[in-house]
Amino acid sequence: MLLKRNAIMTRLRPLLAANWKMNGTRAALSEIAALRDAVALGRAGRAELLICPPFTLIHPAADLCAASGVAIGGQDCQEQPSGAFTGDISAEMLKDAGAVAVIVGHSERRRLHGETDATVRAKAEAAARAGLMAVICVGETRAERDGGETLRVIGRQIDESVPPKSSGGGIALAYEPVWAIGTGLTPSPADMEEVYGFMRRRLAALLSGEADKVRLIYGGSVKPDNAAEIAGFPQVDGVLVGGASLKADEFLAIVSAYR
Ligand code: PGA
Repeated sequence: MLLKRNAIMTRLRPLLAANWKMNGTRAALSEIAALRDAVALGRAGRAELLICPPFTLIHPAADLCAASGVAIGGQDCQEQPSGAFTGDISAEMLKDAGAVAVIVGHSERRRLHGETDATVRAKAEAAARAGLMAVICVGETRAERDGGETLRVIGRQIDESVPPKSSGGGIALAYEPVWAIGTGLTPSPADMEEVYGFMRRRLAALLSGEADKVRLIYGGSVKPDNAAEIAGFPQVDGVLVGGASLKADEFLAIVSAYR
C-alpha cells in the first residue's frame, strides 16, 4: 500500500465532504454542532469540511456553522433558478439558505431519478451561476467494471457532466464507484492510481490550466479504518463520505487521517 504523501497531497486543500443522503431530522443538528466545535479546536488541520445534510437542515446547519470552519452544502439542485417545478430546489435557494456547495450527479440521482450527464452538467452550471461549488460525481457500475468499461464510462461522464467553462476552484470531482457505495468494498491501490491519473488528464483536456486546481476526491465505503489508506494516495484530494458521516465521532475519525 502506498502511504507516502507527495506534493500533490499538500498542494490542494483536502475536501472532506459528508453526504447525509435522506437521513437526519433536527435532532441530528447536534452532530453538526459537535463537528463545528471539533474543527474550532483544530481537529481538521488544514482540511475543508463540507456537510451536506437534507434540504430541511441546510438553513439551521448553516446558522450553527456561521463563521466556523465547517461549510454546508446541498445534495442536489434543479437547473432553473425558479419557476413551476413542484418539489424542486434551485441552486439560488440553496445559496440563500446558507449553502456554499452542492453535490450533483450522485449515482443515486442518476439511477433513481434518471439524471443524464446533460442534466448533471446543467445542474453544475446552475451551481456556478448561484456561486456554489459543484461536487460532481462520476463512477462506474459493477457491470461496467466487470466489462472493462471503467475508464470509458468515467471519461464520458467527465466530458459530458463537467461544464467546460468551470473554474478549478468552482468544482470538485468525486470518483464514486457505484459498486463501492454502501458495500464495504473499495478499489485496489492499482485501480485508484489508474483512475485518478486518468481523471486528471481528462480534466486537463477539458479545462486546460484550471484542471490542476480541481480537487479529485473519493467516495464509496470510506470508514475510519480505511481513511488513512485513502488519505495516503497522493492523487486523491479528499473524500465524500455517506454512512460514516452521520455521527460526528465517526466522521472525525476519518477527518483525523488528514491532520
Ligand atoms: P457510503 O456512501 O460512504 O455510505 O458508501 C458514499 C456516497 O454515496 O456518497
